[in-house]
Order: sequence, then structure tokens, then C-alpha cells
Amino acid sequence: MAHQECINCKTTYSVDEIVYFCKKCGESLEIKFDFEELTEATKTSDWRAKPFSVWRYRPFMPIHESTDIVTLGEGGTGFHKSKRLGSQLGTKYLYIKNEGENPTGSFKDRGMTVGVTKAVELGAHHVICASTGNTSAALAAYAARAGIRCTVLIPSGKIAYGKLSQAMIHGAKVLQVKGNFDEALEFVLKLAEKHKDIYLLNSINPFRIEGQKSLGYEICEQLNYEAPDRIIIPVGNAGNISAVWKGLKEFHQLGLIKKLPKMTGIQASGSAPIAQAIKTGSDKIVPVDYPETIATAIRIGAPVSWKKAVNAIRESGGTAETVTDVEILDAQKTLARVEGIFVEPASASSIAGLKKLIKNGTINKDENVVCITTGHGLKDPDTAIKQCETPIEVDANISIIEEALGLKKNIQY
Ligand code: F0G
Repeated sequence: MAHQECINCKTTYSVDEIVYFCKKCGESLEIKFDFEELTEATKTSDWRAKPFSVWRYRPFMPIHESTDIVTLGEGGTGFHKSKRLGSQLGTKYLYIKNEGENPTGSFKDRGMTVGVTKAVELGAHHVICASTGNTSAALAAYAARAGIRCTVLIPSGKIAYGKLSQAMIHGAKVLQVKGNFDEALEFVLKLAEKHKDIYLLNSINPFRIEGQKSLGYEICEQLNYEAPDRIIIPVGNAGNISAVWKGLKEFHQLGLIKKLPKMTGIQASGSAPIAQAIKTGSDKIVPVDYPETIATAIRIGAPVSWKKAVNAIRESGGTAETVTDVEILDAQKTLARVEGIFVEPASASSIAGLKKLIKNGTINKDENVVCITTGHGLKDPDTAIKQCETPIEVDANISIIEEALGLKKNIQY
């Protein structure tokens, strides 16, 4: 029903072949379905009767029917109407799709449940990725669940401790490479090329994208089979925006939604090659040699899926914007305090982007907007704590506590 296809020269490969880039032209691959068969499969299946989760969409996944899935219960995340934040920012219809509610605390679980299932289906015993943190946390958890070996390469410099602790406790071999994420990714690509028994699970792997496309499906279902006007999404290596767009297009082609939203990618201003390409109308990105941002998850200078992302943004009539670290941290705090949703800095970039795009008139107040927040705030508690007032140490005495709280003493209720 499905095959792998080069996004450039359209060369096809079987879904049972381990291949990450087109052997003819070197471009990345995507999964393509025979639409007649997919339409039939989705008509005859009872997928709509299943609870929200990635595997509700099993007929849409390029996994053999007989394969046992590796799952921790991913997907089905909260879709929060955000009236208070919406009215503060000046938009009437705002929803937060909070991917921090996934099992390991980020959207990566959607991709990893399918990616690791595929790895096991292909007979792999060793999986690998380069990561700014969340991918490694998710891969380590799903590899543990499947009982296979896991290696992760992380960049030097700061990795959020929540994520690192996850990869370590799940038993992954963690190597911190003296270099940035883009260099770590080059090494895992080389390792997977050289050692055919190691299966690569960065988002260049099209099976991961298949899992992540369920995020697009789910948003439309949570809006009662309607697409929003716009989806705003943080962009790093650019797999997720491409995945969500793929899901939306499939739902559209199957006639499950009538229109498509404008895909809007947000990057941190210190690592924004895609946003720059969109703004300048360029067909190429200029990689950033030394990417920098407090949002470590998206500190990426040479996004491997940039072509798919630029395509998604242009094809959908969307846009891209950059946000500074100050804007990101401000959005993180505002979201936590106004809506009770605690997300990590990279995730808050979608909110910071929304604020900027409303201010500069790109988004009008009547648009139905969904901001995707990609990872949980507890992934990076250090950054959160630094922005807040330090707890005050007080004596164990009621009047001192009352005084510290600014309460009047001696009031009897
Ligand atoms: N938000 C968070 C919390 C992330 O961890 C990432 C990517 C992104 C957004 C960007 O997604 O790369 O698909 O554009 N983190 C990767 C990692 C790179 O290694 O965990 P993208």
C-alpha cells in the first residue's frame, strides 16, 4: 500500500528497505501511499471508534498488519481552548495543542512509537540518533520498551537536564560530541551508513515522520473535522512541520477536511536559517555555523528537513518568523501563568511567534489559530527557575509567614 519516494527525483524504494537518502540524487525520502488503497483501508477500518492516540490511525501507517507495535500510549494530547491568553494577545480563537502531555513529555513519542516499531519489524537490534535532548529521551524509552540497544549523540554545551536524565535512566549509551547538533547528526549518519546493523532514527527517517503526522490528524479531529486557519509550530531540524503538513494533506485528500491551514514556522533568532529563507524568498537556506539560543531544543543551524519545511510553508500560504530569547522566555512565563500550561522554552516560541505576528498585522483577530507546544516545561527546570523569584526562607513561625505573604495579622475568620 505504501512505498518510500525521493522528494526530488521520485525514485521509489520498498518500505522494507533500509535507506535514508535517495541513492540516485541524495535527497530525502517520504512515504507515499496508493490513495485508492488508503481510501479503501480507512473506509473499511473502525479507526474512528478507537480512542485518540497515534495507533487510532494504524491504517494510515506504513507498518505491516501482523507487526506488534512498540507503544507507551502516545498521542491523544490536550487541546486547550485558550480564552485568557487569546484575549491578552488579541485573538478570538486560540487553541494550544500541548504535546508535552506525551509519555516522555514531547511530540517525539509520536514518531518514535512508529520508528521503533519499524526498527523491530526490520529486525534491528541497535538504534541511534543525534539529539538536542527530546529525541534522545524518546528513543531511549522506546528502545527500552522494545528491549533493543540505544545510542545517542548529544552536542557539547548545555543539554536540558530533564532530557539527559531520561536518556540515561532508560539505559541509552550517551556520547557528548565536542561540536554542535549539526556535527553530531553528521556522525550518526556516517555510523548508520557504515554499520548496516545500526538503525537511524532522526527525523530524516520517513517512518518517524509518519508517526508525527498524526498530530495534524488529531488537531482536525479535535476541531470536529475542520482544519484551523493557521498552525504555528516551533522549528528546529524541521521534521515536525513537514510531518504535520503531510498529515493535513492526507486528511484533505481523503476528504476528511475541506480546507488546509497556513503553516507558520517559528525559529529562534540565533538559529533561523528557514525563517531567513522564507523572508528573503530564497530557494536555499544559508546554514548558521554557530547556532545560539536559550531554546536548546531548536539550537540547530543546518536543518536536515529544510526543503520539506520550506515547501510546507510556501505551499500552504503560511509564513515563518523569528523570536528572540527574551520573547521566548516571556511567552513561556505568560503561558504558564495565564493558562496553567508549563512548556519548555523551544515550545514557547510558538506563542512568542503568535504575539509577534499579531502585532505586525500578519494574523488577524478572527483567525482560528492553533499553537503547538512541543515539550513539557519540566524538561528544563533550570531555565524556568532562573526566571522566577527565589523561594524566601522563613522561620517556622505563623506571624513571620504572614508577614512574608503580606497578610494582615490577628484576623479571626
Ligand atoms: N520543540 C522541541 C521541544 C524539540 O525538542 C524540537 C526538536 C523541536 C521543537 C523542533 O522540531 O526538529 O522537528 O523541527 N528537537 C530535536 C531533538 C532536534 O533532538 O530533540 P523539529
